[in-house]
Amino acid sequence: MSPPGTGSRRSAPGGSGRAGPSRRGAAGSGGAGGRTGGVRGRDGAGPQPATFDGLLASREIVVACGPGGVGKTTTAAAAAAGAAARLGGKVLVLTVDPARRLADALGIEGIGNEARRVPDEAFTAAGVRPRGQLWAAMLDTKQSWDALVRRHAPDAETCDQILGNPLYRNISGRFVQSHDYIAMERLFELHGEGDYDLIVVDTPPSRNALDFLDAPERMADFFSSRLLRWLIVPYRSRLVNMASRPFYQVADRILGSQFLSDIAEFFILFQSMYDGFVQRARAVQRLLADRRTTFIVVSTLEAAPVREAEAFAAELRNRHLHLGALVLNKVLPTYLLDEESARIAERLAHDTGPIADEVAAAVRGVDRDQVARVLRSVGQSFGNFRVVAQRETEQRAELAQAPDVLVSVPYFDTDVYDLAGLLRLSGQLWDG
Ligand SMILES: Nc1ncnc2c1ncn2[C@@H]1O[C@H](COP(=O)(O)OP(=O)(O)OP(=O)(O)O)[C@@H](O)[C@H]1O
Ligand SMILES: [Mg+2]
Repeated sequence: MSPPGTGSRRSAPGGSGRAGPSRRGAAGSGGAGGRTGGVRGRDGAGPQPATFDGLLASREIVVACGPGGVGKTTTAAAAAAGAAARLGGKVLVLTVDPARRLADALGIEGIGNEARRVPDEAFTAAGVRPRGQLWAAMLDTKQSWDALVRRHAPDAETCDQILGNPLYRNISGRFVQSHDYIAMERLFELHGEGDYDLIVVDTPPSRNALDFLDAPERMADFFSSRLLRWLIVPYRSRLVNMASRPFYQVADRILGSQFLSDIAEFFILFQSMYDGFVQRARAVQRLLADRRTTFIVVSTLEAAPVREAEAFAAELRNRHLHLGALVLNKVLPTYLLDEESARIAERLAHDTGPIADEVAAAVRGVDRDQVARVLRSVGQSFGNFRVVAQRETEQRAELAQAPDVLVSVPYFDTDVYDLAGLLRLSGQLWDG
């Protein structure tokens, strides 16, 4: 691992191999240069970074993952914004399907794979003078598949045939779980190009939070699968074997021979890219396991997401992948646990009369009974939230094997959809 802040980043194994960018601070306003807070990583050369700042300063790739709907995209964007603001350098957040307002705020709504720089003015409007640059890109599955075909096709003719194949055109945006695969593939590509000091990648919502880890391997398996061979054999050899003949005869009649030959051509052409795909899938796996990469597991403190996040953390360990931080998002504020506040809420809920009398007397023109109703509801709601906050505390206490960096982010009163909101959230990641 290169010493922190030196800027000597090697390209990813198997990547396109351009030299790394000049390191942190090149675009920063501080002029000091270099990423701050660099801490040696897990290569035995020094202690594990025990802060969010140290973690991000010592890595080149951060993968935000976790259960669905917990705030992965928001956390990834906030971590990138915070890194650009505090650490400097060129930071990219690669998002998957961000909420429209967030995409708008990052300037990437409807622009495909292309990365855009978030203007410094957006930071200054949010009251922050960034040390570095924040770039954002959205994952465009279709564009990424086309780029992959261009890279792996054995020659220009095959490439055109694949891109022009009707079946390919129809399904390339919809391959089962191709979001998972493409997210990892794009990450590999971008890292290999070496344009960024730090890439923070968001992961897609999936039935199983681990899907994206297996995606490259699954893709390699698919290309070598027996099913695939079985599908293309009759068309490749023109020797339809006895077992499959009735199927093809019926299928021909129902679907039309053009459709079947499109399918066959598609798979035959795709097989021509097998070696490239398999090598690439292995290289992606290696990059995920590389010491330059870390994973941030995001979760809320509800029972089901916590269980899923724990399983995820355990699986990362099994695979010798680096679990850098656990971010507990949308956590209720700790004042809900305060005993004195709880007693006040209790009085509001159950001993409302005298308090309502006093409030009604102090505030001219209000109806005393209405005041009583409002106070009772406030007291009851506080009590309800307190129960949830207590449950959250228990969940947190039960977290087995929490990583060194464990941060809590409160439930904000509004959605996080602009740079100011992301920077506010990043403040919690860094200092919270
Ligand atoms: N700390 C927070 N306080 C308030 N709202 C939040 C917070 N974190 C995230 N949100 C909001 O929660 C919603 C879901 O967040 P986000 O899209 O980041 O989740 P996700 O894990 O990426 O979801 P998916 O699994 O569907 O991709 C968004 O509207 C976001 O603004
Ligand atoms: Mg998301």
